[in-house]
Amino acid sequence: MKNLYCIVLIIFSLATISCGLDREQEDIYTIGFVQAMTTDNWRKEMNRAMKVEASMHPNLNLEIKDAHNDVERQIAQVEDFIEKRVDVLIVSPIQSVPITPVIEKAMNAGIPTIVIDRKIEGSNYTAYVGANNVEIGENAANYIISNSTPGKELKLIEITGLQASSPAYERSRGFRKVIAKQENIEVVGTIAGDWEKTSVNKNLQSLLDSIEAPDFIFAHNDRMAMGAWEVARSENLTDSIQIIGVDGLFGPSGGIQLVKENILAATVLYPTGGAEAIKLATQLLAGDNIEKNNILNTVVIDKVNVDIMQNQFNKMNQQQNDIEQQQSVIKEQLATYNSQNYLLKIMVVLFILLLLLGLWAVYLVFKLKKHKRRLELNNRKIITQRNQIEKFAEQLEVSNEVKINFFTALSHEFKTPLTLITSAIESLGQNPNKQLKDFAYETSLISKNSGRLLRLINELLDFRKLESGSFRLKPLKTNLYEFIENIYEDFKSEALKKSIDLKLESHTKEVMVYIDRDMMDKVFFNMLSNAFKFTPKNGQINISIEEIGEDKVEVRFKDSGIGIPKEDFKKIFDPFRQAGNNAKPSSGLGLYITRQFVELHKGEISVSSHQGTEFTIELLKGKDHLAAYEFVEDTLEIEKEASAKELESTYIPEELSQSIDENAETILIIEDNTDLSYLLKKKLLGDYKVELSDGTDALEKALQIIPDVIICDLNLPEKSGFEICKELKSDLRTSHIPTLILTALSDEESRLKALKAGADTYITKPFNFGILKESLRSALFNREKLRYYYTNKIDQVKDNKFEDSEQAFLKELNSLIEKNLKQTGFNVEDLAHQLGISRVQLYRKVKAIMGISISDYINGQRLSKAKSLLQKTNLNISEIAYEVGYASPGYFSTSFKNKYGTTPKQFRS
Ligand code: FRU
Repeated sequence: MKNLYCIVLIIFSLATISCGLDREQEDIYTIGFVQAMTTDNWRKEMNRAMKVEASMHPNLNLEIKDAHNDVERQIAQVEDFIEKRVDVLIVSPIQSVPITPVIEKAMNAGIPTIVIDRKIEGSNYTAYVGANNVEIGENAANYIISNSTPGKELKLIEITGLQASSPAYERSRGFRKVIAKQENIEVVGTIAGDWEKTSVNKNLQSLLDSIEAPDFIFAHNDRMAMGAWEVARSENLTDSIQIIGVDGLFGPSGGIQLVKENILAATVLYPTGGAEAIKLATQLLAGDNIEKNNILNTVVIDKVNVDIMQNQFNKMNQQQNDIEQQQSVIKEQLATYNSQNYLLKIMVVLFILLLLLGLWAVYLVFKLKKHKRRLELNNRKIITQRNQIEKFAEQLEVSNEVKINFFTALSHEFKTPLTLITSAIESLGQNPNKQLKDFAYETSLISKNSGRLLRLINELLDFRKLESGSFRLKPLKTNLYEFIENIYEDFKSEALKKSIDLKLESHTKEVMVYIDRDMMDKVFFNMLSNAFKFTPKNGQINISIEEIGEDKVEVRFKDSGIGIPKEDFKKIFDPFRQAGNNAKPSSGLGLYITRQFVELHKGEISVSSHQGTEFTIELLKGKDHLAAYEFVEDTLEIEKEASAKELESTYIPEELSQSIDENAETILIIEDNTDLSYLLKKKLLGDYKVELSDGTDALEKALQIIPDVIICDLNLPEKSGFEICKELKSDLRTSHIPTLILTALSDEESRLKALKAGADTYITKPFNFGILKESLRSALFNREKLRYYYTNKIDQVKDNKFEDSEQAFLKELNSLIEKNLKQTGFNVEDLAHQLGISRVQLYRKVKAIMGISISDYINGQRLSKAKSLLQKTNLNISEIAYEVGYASPGYFSTSFKNKYGTTPKQFRS
């Protein structure tokens, strides 16, 4: 909008300036002048005077038309000017009558018209300029009279101008009027001239021939007077005839010069009136009132005043020239001024334009800056918002991931008890005629795991309630010592079973506090079951109650478990998170609920870790801090109920005896859920020797036993199943053992991760026992197939055709045997030593992958080498026997025969 305003302003300024220039052009006026003819000097002088006068007025444009003494033409020229609508019209008529109507027409058209020299009929014109021609005639007559002897007879001849023109008849009239009064003067002849010399000669010649020579000739102008003199001269009459003319022009052949040269006796001055006519026109244009008849002065010029007149004319002429020169200088300067003025105006316009553009540019720069600032601000805002959104999205992602992990973990938590329950039910269904003790085991398993599920669900419900803030405290006056002692009692049997030293310490047995018993029961139970979860066998758990000052009491739970890294102290109370060393499965809500419950009591819970973990719960005494709640009866007794019904090992299962079959294959079950591992062991014992590990000693056990197959859980304390599997598979001693993963993690990612770690089979919980059994069988069968392959293609193992850890092992084994074959004493011990494993491990490994003992294998290698030496060399039998490490050639022959059914000697021949 503002830009538009600027453009309009510029256009307006330029328009104003150019209007200024136009207005000067509008002020120029045109004067149209129709001249009768320009053949003589008098007319030329009239035109010149007009031009000089007009040049004094820069706004006057003088346009002159020459009628060439043609009346019709003159009328047409006037018509032209009327049509052109000149501002002022000046006409010097040829004849008076014919021109009159067109001049009236001009007047009617509103064009001011000035008549000069000769007159028109009537007086319908704006002004007339010219001398009084009657007076001129009178002056001529008076001159004759005054230059003649009074009373002497005088004879005169009059040569008139064109009769139809006013000067001719007016001059004649004035002349005759004066002469008529003189009795001694007689006009003896009249010649009708036409203003030009040519009209005189013939007529005067014949007149002079017919009459006596006159004393004076009066010609109506100097040109005709000159003609008369030439005739007189041809008649030798110049001395006797005095000639008088009219016009008195200045210049070489003008009347003044003729008087000076005695050609004319006198001339009557007849001014052209050119300058005066222009002056009148300018007055008219200026709106001034002017005289209608402007009569110019006249004078007789003769010998007496001719010099004065010439001088005056000279001076005038000089002045005229000066003026003209000045005029031209002024004109030049005016032209310069005009062009400079024009330039200046253009410059002013350009300057204004520049200024406006400059202002506009400044305005645009300012506007752009403002715009830029606004954009930058917006940008900054957007970046901040984007960062916030990103942060928020990140937080959301983290929180989402945490929640997803939580729910995944939680669903796994549900899977193990469900597996145990379904297995137990399956087992009951398959074997309805079970012994009573087996039945008791199955039902106890179902009941215990149902309890566990219930606890998980309760935790979830508590969490839900806490999140929605709908928990209401029901404070009840309680002896804290008794309350805790009750819970402590419940855990005593568990402590005994795990050989854990569980203690409760307090200075006093009466510590009264107001608590919501349901909530605090869960708090203390959770504290203790956590301590039990992380405390190994023969560990210690201490509960201490201590009053701090008058109004506080602290309850501490200290265990000798794995402890918690410092950086996790805060995290462990967060929902959905399991901190640090805790790879033990749990809902992850226990500690969160515990802290919330304690805080609902305006208490505090904190944790520290030094050789185990210590949780401290600080509670306030009295009931002021719980004023917001409704108090239940103060005196209610603590119910001595067994709140430990949920404790997870109420049923002590029987010791299971190993399989009776000595050759049965060994399975190592790595599972931290004792119920599940017990159940698995119980079910597999008929077919296999079964060893158990809770995950904490998985690798040690695997190396110690070198089992034939391993069943491994993934969620384990300390090391995960992935890590255990990876380590087993990358260890020479255990790499050959088929590993079966048994896990609650059913997602593709975990499956892939396990396979990458080297797992052979992946089974998810809750699982079908039949499938598990079949998978075990199939794993062992595959091992068998591989063993067959290795035993039969053992030589090819030298090539690089195969590349797995077993082949690598065999390659190394073969090359070591080959290298030491010559040594008679080279035995299994040496070989195990060089391989960096124990003799038993080597024995088991070789047995596992090839089904033969390592010593048989070494022997086989010796004999196989001997066989090839018998075929390819000329060494004798004894030499070959020593070459392959036999101390005696006889024993070599016996061994060879045992393996190949023929003696070496027979074999060679
Ligand atoms: C010029 C002229 C003058 C004379 C005047 C009369 O053309 O002939 O000599 O005085 O005209 O109109």
